[in-house]
Amino acid sequence: MKILILHGPNLNLLGTRETDIYGKLSLVDINLNLEEYAKNNNFEIKFIQSNIEGELVNALQEAQSWATGVVFNPAGYTHTSVALRDAITAIEIPVIEVHLSNVYGREEFRQKSLLSGQCAGKITGFGWRSYLYGLMEIIELRTKQP
Ligand code: DQA
Repeated sequence: MKILILHGPNLNLLGTRETDIYGKLSLVDINLNLEEYAKNNNFEIKFIQSNIEGELVNALQEAQSWATGVVFNPAGYTHTSVALRDAITAIEIPVIEVHLSNVYGREEFRQKSLLSGQCAGKITGFGWRSYLYGLMEIIELRTKQP
């Protein structure tokens, strides 16, 4: 079974971008950690990062044909994107929204997500482990009884 880890805009800069908020791990480091966890649980993962909203929409639409679920950090588009909300609504696989920082402890505009209501759930504030917990939950959803 395969899972998509989808990273939104500016997350390619992790490791150097606002490290006090987002931590010192690069995107490559985070992906390696997630890959190890997935492998140990007999899942395959694919990573996509894009700074372009339409490419994220395409990735979500295409994931429906090959992925069992998506762990998605929509980054800045969380707070603005009707197109991503519609894509998440349109596909039938579970999408878990994740954020490195605790968006509820930050500026007011970050506390609003256009996407959360269409996602299976949301994890925010645990640094790179927000992705890990999202991945764990997709695996749980797909392998265990509710
Ligand atoms: C983020 C939070 C967003 O508000 C911000 O725009 C990001 C990163 C996070 O992972 O904490 O780029 O999604």
